[in-house]
Amino acid sequence: MVKRNDLDILVCPICKSSELKIDILSFVNKAIHEGEIICTSCNVFFKIENGIPNMIPPILSLINREDLKLWKKWFKKLRNFERWRKKRYKKKEKGNPEILRNQIEYDRLKTNFFKFCNCIEGDILEIGCGGGWNKEHCQGNYVGIDPIITIDNPDFPFYQAIGEYLPFRNSSFDSIIMTAILDHVVSVDEVIKESFRVLRKGGFIYIQTHVESNEKEQKLISQSDLAPLSKNLIELINRGPLGILKSAYYCLIYSRPISKIRDRYTHMNQIRLDSLLNIIKKFSADSILQVTPDHNIAFIKVKK
Ligand SMILES: C[S@@+](CC[C@H](N)C(=O)[O-])C[C@H]1O[C@@H](n2cnc3c(N)ncnc32)[C@H](O)[C@@H]1O
Ligand SMILES: [Zn+2]
Repeated sequence: MVKRNDLDILVCPICKSSELKIDILSFVNKAIHEGEIICTSCNVFFKIENGIPNMIPPILSLINREDLKLWKKWFKKLRNFERWRKKRYKKKEKGNPEILRNQIEYDRLKTNFFKFCNCIEGDILEIGCGGGWNKEHCQGNYVGIDPIITIDNPDFPFYQAIGEYLPFRNSSFDSIIMTAILDHVVSVDEVIKESFRVLRKGGFIYIQTHVESNEKEQKLISQSDLAPLSKNLIELINRGPLGILKSAYYCLIYSRPISKIRDRYTHMNQIRLDSLLNIIKKFSADSILQVTPDHNIAFIKVKK
């Protein structure tokens, strides 16, 4: 939920003007419930519904961009991701063993990542925050953005927005977090550029991302990648004819290189660690403090 003074840091995500006309139509418990934000410079409207301002630029405002095709592809993948996440929740509720195993790995990764970050404080922005699950690891004023609304009534200022078009004034935050989002965005370059813009001098960016290995390694699936799969296949085969069919299907999919499997349904990019570090260096040379690759996951800490 956002309060009136949370909106003081907002700018138009498209033209970055701070000349916004904010019309509030209703409040619930002192938080804004319904309203409208209008950029008086470029005349674009952004709605506030159920306490959440939608600051995603309307697709029409991107029409002149040569990468409009990419945005359409992104939108499709975003819907796929939403579907994938819902299915996952259902399976988790039913106690699906594979999902529970993945959850243990996810929690291990999160613990290691936040140990690596040490202490995230000040005015904090999380880009691609999902339901704000990382908030508990932060020690300051937490703000989250994500193009998908995952939870009702978030207990922190949440905006529907995207990393390439951040709706915040220059130098608004001390810390920026991005976990598992860079392979979902249209432009890693623009997300990093926007992050540096809204970060204060001396502030930190903390990134956790899946990274691809080099071409040769991609052609082979490693033993450790196959270990959980073979366990699942045995479980499936034991379930009878339908299980056998399903396991044949998985064998077909997994005979492709890992990078292609990841990319098929919900991912936009395959991140190469060296390319990502080069992008960061473009915006702030000598700013990378620490990089820790954990298998195919990289932890990166950057200072502005
Ligand atoms: C794999 S989830 C990670 C969620 C959370 N950060 C975590 O670690 O659990 C990827 C998230 O990126 C969001 N996302 C996709 N495109 C984005 C964009 N252009 N800008 C910001 N977030 C985006 C998705 O909506 C999704 O919530
Ligand atoms: Zn504008």
